[in-house]
Amino acid sequence: MQILKNEAGDIAVAVEELKKGNVVAIPTETVYGLAANALDPEAVSKIFKAKGRPSDNPLIVHIADASDMEKFAIPNEIAYKLAEKFWPGPLTMILPKRDCIPTAVTAGLDTVAIRMPEHPVAREIISQSGLPLAAPSANISGKPSPTSAQHVIDDFRENPYVAAIIDGGKCKCGVESTVLSLCNGTPCLLRPGFVTADMLRTVIPNLKIAEAVLKELPNSEKALSPGLKHKHYAPKARTVCIKGLCENALKYVKLDGNIKKTVICFNGEEAVFAGCNVIPYGKSDDFEELAENLFDALRQADALDCEKIYVRIPEIDEKSVNGVLLAVYNRLLRAASFTVIDCDSAAKGLVIGVTGQSGAGKGTLCKILENKGFFHIDTDKVWHDMIDECAPKLEAVFGKVTDKNGRVDRKILGEKAFSSEENLKKLNEIAHKSIMAKVSEIMDENRSKGIFNFAVDGAALFEAGAKANCDFIIAVTADWNSRLDRVKKRDGIDDKRAEARFSGQKSEEFYIQNADFTIINDDIGSLEAKIEAVLAENCKLK
Ligand code: TXA
Ligand code: MG
Repeated sequence: MQILKNEAGDIAVAVEELKKGNVVAIPTETVYGLAANALDPEAVSKIFKAKGRPSDNPLIVHIADASDMEKFAIPNEIAYKLAEKFWPGPLTMILPKRDCIPTAVTAGLDTVAIRMPEHPVAREIISQSGLPLAAPSANISGKPSPTSAQHVIDDFRENPYVAAIIDGGKCKCGVESTVLSLCNGTPCLLRPGFVTADMLRTVIPNLKIAEAVLKELPNSEKALSPGLKHKHYAPKARTVCIKGLCENALKYVKLDGNIKKTVICFNGEEAVFAGCNVIPYGKSDDFEELAENLFDALRQADALDCEKIYVRIPEIDEKSVNGVLLAVYNRLLRAASFTVIDCDSAAKGLVIGVTGQSGAGKGTLCKILENKGFFHIDTDKVWHDMIDECAPKLEAVFGKVTDKNGRVDRKILGEKAFSSEENLKKLNEIAHKSIMAKVSEIMDENRSKGIFNFAVDGAALFEAGAKANCDFIIAVTADWNSRLDRVKKRDGIDDKRAEARFSGQKSEEFYIQNADFTIINDDIGSLEAKIEAVLAENCKLK
């Protein structure tokens, strides 16, 4: 890939490549685009190959002169008005297409997306080439969009399908153009950007905003814009959006396990999150600044190789939903797979760990908590459900442990893991880390739906490091005979097997010493009353 500096003669080089049917990355005021001659299906196919883009996701055709719109599309009256008002600029209009536009560009649709960019380099390249340019954002499909030449170079340095990039500096908007459909009846905003809903309503008072802008589409629902259904902008590490007071956000981040964390925060919050990697991305009330920096921040976070990314996100209300904040929300929601945590509510919730020996009554205690509105997470079940996902990690340590369907064979894994103390330690390391990451994910999914109280149950919570995820941990104890009876009945095993199981477990003292509270599960007093006493005690402590 040639890296052109935008010096004398560089635009001519880029234009030559485009004329030859090659792909060139160009700056625009929104994000960098991966451009090719829109009238040449062969050239367009290189864009899809370079990005690894699904072929059902159509491209935007970029023009240098508003009058070119009618060469490639069939505009209506609104389209002319909008072009007059917002072009050149970050507005893309979907219109019925003309036959000259190949189906490779529109992914077989009978409509075409048209935009006239404002960036002087983009305009110069389009007009000097005399070609309409098909150009998606210049990122590998699914990764955050590129807002600087370096981002493009990071993604495509070795890519054989990209001939050149021309460096036009940092992009002014930082998020892609507004996409507006002018087909199928009422004009509909498909992707929010710097031309906001408020601005569009000055021309289109009855503008609709597509539901998918802020909501996850059910798989069955056919997407209006194919791009809305693809996973977008996602960093490698699991990402969540966090809103609420800074102190509550900190509380939530802190109580999320011993993992490598990156917080993308508002300016001025850096010191608060000092224990984590911190990337400020703008003032909390300057939505244009947040938009400008958000993709760069996501890319920086990715480069830090952390285990989880937390993004501070402003509150959105009836007024701000019609402005640039909608674009920020739309991109961040996708980066976070629609997980948004209200940290003010999370701060009022409780995460209780429940641990103890087999048969002590962890499950019974969790049932009672469940009846009090706690969401029960059984870590044994979590491991059981996720073990196949962990196959690569397990096989890296133990060699082949999967069957012909790629599923973990527990018997083989057991034989290998229990063959030595060292192996067992290795298995526990993988299991504990994976389980706690999944527990955090399950809690986030639920918090995102408004559930904030959790009971996390498991015999190995202390070894798994769950103290770092729980407000407090309760140990449940019961005498040997009651435990024996319970385990025999529950699991249908005899004395010998039950006793063998007990012998491999930690002592009662271990649990009592490590726990914040101990509940004795015996006949004296009801279990429910004992739990209520612990909850009351904790409320006093809080
Ligand atoms: O700001 C931008 O628009 C940048 C710069 C390079 O111009 N380009 C860009 O392209 O963001 P891309 O391909 O990343 O996003 C285009 C979006 C996709 O969501 C796509 O599905 C949608 O526009 N789109 C394109 N043609 C369409 C059509 N005929 N009907 C519905 N949606 C369409
Ligand atoms: Mg894109």
